Amino acid sequence: MKRLQRLRASAPLRDMVSEIGFGQSQLIQPLFLAEGLTKEEPLGGLPGNSRHTLGSLLTQFEKDMAAGVRQFLLFPVPAQKSNRNFAADFVGTALQQMRQRAGTSASIWVDTCLCSFTESGHCCVHDKGGRQDLGATHSALASLGLTYVKAGADGISPSDMNDGRVAHLRAALDGAGYDLAPIMSYSTKFASNFYGPFRDAADSAPQYGDRKSYQLDVRNRTDALASSRRCAEEGADLLMVKPGQPSADLIRPIHEQTGLPVGAYQVSGEYTSLVLLAKENFVNFDAALIESWHNLRRAGASYIITYGARLARGLGLAA
Ligand code: PBG
Ligand code: ZN
Repeated sequence: MKRLQRLRASAPLRDMVSEIGFGQSQLIQPLFLAEGLTKEEPLGGLPGNSRHTLGSLLTQFEKDMAAGVRQFLLFPVPAQKSNRNFAADFVGTALQQMRQRAGTSASIWVDTCLCSFTESGHCCVHDKGGRQDLGATHSALASLGLTYVKAGADGISPSDMNDGRVAHLRAALDGAGYDLAPIMSYSTKFASNFYGPFRDAADSAPQYGDRKSYQLDVRNRTDALASSRRCAEEGADLLMVKPGQPSADLIRPIHEQTGLPVGAYQVSGEYTSLVLLAKENFVNFDAALIESWHNLRRAGASYIITYGARLARGLGLAA
């Protein structure tokens, strides 16, 4: 059964996908939680953003909610890397405490991928011969996804770009009674050079090779559209292009072809480029940041993931 009700489940979610107006309700703030970290580590390229301990994460989360942020995307960074056994208990603990503090006034999404968990730094499991093991990848993603929703996440956000993962996750959630938990799929995600500052934050740089055998080739529009359409067919509730501004041409076509809300991820490299321009006095950071959001909204983005979501109210953006 097609469940259109998933996007009506809570006030923050309804506001996020509202087709009228534009404000902080449409912005999603990433948060990094590093297991075993003893002291918050500010991120060089992303001022105002840090790798958090559990304690500093909760403090930041409360501050952000007080500043009007209603959507969060949590990135878990485990202490131990592994080939196949991915332990995410630390994420569950954090989610329970976040849920307790948020009640129903904020949505918490969790980036669901393996690249911070694997020794290889890749978004999939490899077998002994170095080939991608799709079955093991799906099972590992499903087990992480279930851990997250059971602990109180509102939805999961698979970012791996491996074939079939949305269908597998949807079935796993439905099978466990989470048929109303939405999937926000990184559905058109390019193998891009603009993820650099993030990979330090998430400790997820590939140890060998690159991600070109699963992420999209920037030259190919046809594959980019097909990839989002396929996620829609497999049961994704929300789609996304990434990187955001460089993919602006695809946002409206994807929405027209699927009828689903399509978001844009203003990735770390995009955000850091504004930071550096401002540092050299070539732009006014605040004005350039708002412009970049307006550009994405004009291109059809229904929501925007941005490292500056917590700044929005201070910049005069509506709620
Ligand atoms: C991991 C993931 C990445 C980003 C979000 N999830 C990095 C990658 O695919 O290499 C990038 C976010 C950013 O650059 O801000 N699957
Ligand atoms: Zn990944």
